[in-house]
Amino acid sequence: MDSSIHRTRWCGEIRSEDIGNEITLSGWVLRRRDHGGLIFLDLRDRTGLAQVVSDPEVDPEVHALFESVRPEYCLKVTGKIGPRPEGTVNPGLPTGEVEMSCTKASVHSTSETPPFGIEEADNVDESLRLKYRYLDLRRPEMYNTLRLRHDVVHAARTHLDDLDFLEVETPYLTKSTPEGARDYLVPSRVHMSHFYALPQSPQLYKQILMVSGVERYYQIARCFRDEDLRADRQPEFSQIDIEVSFMGQDELLEMMDSMLESVFKAVGFPFKKPLRMTYTDAMDNYGTDKPDTRFDMTIKDISDIAAECEFKVFNAAAKSGVVRGLCISDLDFSRRQIDSLIEFAIGAGAKGLAWMQVDGDEVKSSITKFFSEDQLAAIRDRMGATGKDLLVFVADKHEVAAKVLGDVRNEIAATRGLTEGKDPELLWVVDFPLFLYNAEEKRLDSSHHPFTAPKEEDLPLLEAEPAKVMSDAYDLVMNGVELGSGSIRIHQAELQNRIFEIIGMPKEEAEDRFGFLLEAFKYGPPPHAGIALGVDRLVMLLAGKDSIRDVIAFPKTQAAIEPLTSAPATVSERQLRDLNLAIRPE
Ligand code: AMO
Ligand code: AMP
Repeated sequence: MDSSIHRTRWCGEIRSEDIGNEITLSGWVLRRRDHGGLIFLDLRDRTGLAQVVSDPEVDPEVHALFESVRPEYCLKVTGKIGPRPEGTVNPGLPTGEVEMSCTKASVHSTSETPPFGIEEADNVDESLRLKYRYLDLRRPEMYNTLRLRHDVVHAARTHLDDLDFLEVETPYLTKSTPEGARDYLVPSRVHMSHFYALPQSPQLYKQILMVSGVERYYQIARCFRDEDLRADRQPEFSQIDIEVSFMGQDELLEMMDSMLESVFKAVGFPFKKPLRMTYTDAMDNYGTDKPDTRFDMTIKDISDIAAECEFKVFNAAAKSGVVRGLCISDLDFSRRQIDSLIEFAIGAGAKGLAWMQVDGDEVKSSITKFFSEDQLAAIRDRMGATGKDLLVFVADKHEVAAKVLGDVRNEIAATRGLTEGKDPELLWVVDFPLFLYNAEEKRLDSSHHPFTAPKEEDLPLLEAEPAKVMSDAYDLVMNGVELGSGSIRIHQAELQNRIFEIIGMPKEEAEDRFGFLLEAFKYGPPPHAGIALGVDRLVMLLAGKDSIRDVIAFPKTQAAIEPLTSAPATVSERQLRDLNLAIRPE
């Protein structure tokens, strides 16, 4: 217990056992109720609320002070704990059976009327909440989220410490590391026209630490990426960043499972060991490499049946692409709802969305006329339609059908609450292709990053059929969100150089950007592997929030502004001169 001059107890912990004791509390005024004679204050600290009463008969001086206090004043109060009078007990509050009869009070500081009431912040515009983040964070819900975040990181640290991991800090002022986003650059004053880049991740340093023989590294690492922001993306975010030597994929994934189990248990969440699914299965069955496995509704292929039917759209696609669909069970759809689903599918890239409403043996749809009874029965059977179901189909190229049906699947889950009340689901997606085709630049890109090892058996295909090469990469997915990503690394300079060449990076550029890694690989690099988990996303999912902004103390808006300090901001002429920089007029 904290017994300082400012408090002897916390507001949220006083109970009936304290009756008769004199205690001192410090905290903020949430509410003040003047009942003519008595004044009641709800005093709040981070642990909860306590009711404090002043009676003009008991102490006129305290009472005069209570008359003057307003919401969010910071107070110190002393008095005896007593039972609340009958009929005034609040069973909804842990401290609801007792109250303090105040005999001594002082104001630590006054408060202007806050721009929003602490209890109303949920309904306040987010930019106002972020500008007055300190008031927003006074909300118990926000405090609890910060606490959850702390507990998650603490549990991960403890688990890794127990496994003899070493936490090593790597530089923030560094050279560009490729994770696919733009860099945040920091000009060097000492070296004119040279720039540091803030790290997009500690990827290369952690690999170098393996060459150093650290063997087991972790870091709660801040990463910086200048990319378009979304609900689950911030320009700076944190990773539980891990790298190990002499460990294979299975061992590493098992180790991560046990770390996740420790973390989930530490914060009171049910843990189910993640299943493993190949990238190909994920794409075929869920249309995405980050499937939400909390609900079934997997994609089914009817291309063979579609090839035989009379519906031209299906025939054509069955030849050049696929006809695939979803069976949506146990949900009623009006024509209008079907139309808006079609619109959604078109928005996601489809040319249309064919549908059939199944009720037992009956099939209703504008396209039934193109199918024989046998074909309709075969479709019902293939799709797994058993009662009242809506079947929807996309006829298109394989990738388009996958993307659209994956999106439709998630849309239905979101709008129909299919995941409500479901336990969190973790999943490992494994066996990714090493490269993905970048249609814009007409070349291959690494699907993770260029330090990912190809599967050994695919090495002979590397130059001849690179698109077929699979990699030892793995992603961790939780509730349809990519939570982590990692791989077995390349640890031979020669192979690393071949990869740079295949992704179209000239030798000089590779040497210029990653020469230090290639150099390090000349000196006995061990086989190594690693992973990074997004802390913000993990906490967001555990806290049941829709945005990582809610689990970051001082996040940036969608426009990359930090409203509390108004960063980014202009700097003085003098600062620019020191850096030998000039702002070009627009
Ligand atoms: P990757 O780039 O996939 O891998 O990032 C790993 C995890 O970090 C989280 N994450 C983000 N969280 C919030 N905002 C962002 N802008 C953001 N970007 C990524 C995600 C993601 O799964 N160096 C490799 C890891 C490795 O190979 O070891 C890397 O950074 O949860
Ligand atoms: P149409 O013959 O163009 O009137 O289309 C008949 C139905 O097929 C409509 O419900 C369309 O939404 C749907 N449709 C059209 N193109 C596709 C496609 N490529 N995949 C799936 N359905 C389609």
